[in-house]
Amino acid sequence: MDQDQKKRLVAAAALEFVVDDTIVGVGTGSTANCFIDALAGRRERIRGAVASSEASAERLRAAGIPVFDLNETGELGVYVDGADEATRERHLVKGGGGALTREKIVAAASARFICVIDDSKIVTRLGHFPLPVEVIPLARRQVARALADLGGRPVWREGFVTDNGNVILDVHGLDIADPVGLEASLNQITGVVTNGLFARRPADLLLVGSDAGVQRI
Ligand code: 5RP
Repeated sequence: MDQDQKKRLVAAAALEFVVDDTIVGVGTGSTANCFIDALAGRRERIRGAVASSEASAERLRAAGIPVFDLNETGELGVYVDGADEATRERHLVKGGGGALTREKIVAAASARFICVIDDSKIVTRLGHFPLPVEVIPLARRQVARALADLGGRPVWREGFVTDNGNVILDVHGLDIADPVGLEASLNQITGVVTNGLFARRPADLLLVGSDAGVQRI
C-alpha cells in the first residue's frame, strides 16, 4: 500500500468518531483533505465543520459542508487532523502546512483529538522533522536568535505567510527529549505565537495507516 492509500484508509477510519448532527473540527494537510473527502459522503448527517485553515475551509465548502467560526460553536466533540511526526505517547510535531496556530486552537476546543497518520510518521523521539514556530513578523530575527540559543537552527520559511498574517521559522536540530517542557519554554519567547509541539494537549488517539490496516494508539 502506498502512502496516499494509507492516508485514505485512516481518514475513512476516522469517520467512526463523527457523531451525527454535530459540528466537526477539521485539520489541514493532505491527510486532513482525505478526511474532508470522506466526510463529504455523509454531509447530510452533520451540521458542519470548523476548519483549522482557509485552505480546509475552502475544501469543505466545495464539498458542500457548511463552515462555522469557532466563536459561533463553542466546544466541539471531535477534531480530526494529521501530523508530521508522532510518538507512541501521542506527542506530535505539526505545522508542516503552516496552520499550527489554528490547529492548536481547534484541538484545544475539542473534547477528542483524533490524529490520522500513515506509519512513516511514527518516531521514537520528536525532532527529525524541523519544528515549525509561528512568529510575529517584526520579531523574526529576535526569535531566531533565541531559538539558536536553545540549540536549534531556525530557517525562515521565506515567502510563506500564515492565515494569521505571520511568518514561520522551521527549527532544525532541536533535541526534543522533553516535549511538554520545550513546548512551554518556546511559548515564553516574546514574539512567538505558537510552536508546532502538541504535547501539553497531545492527541487522544492516533489512527495509523499501515500495510496491516489501521492501528490504534
Ligand atoms: C499542517 C499540519 C499537517 O497536519 C501536517 O503537516 C501533516 O500533513 P500531511 O497530512 O499532508 O502529511 O500540521 O499545518
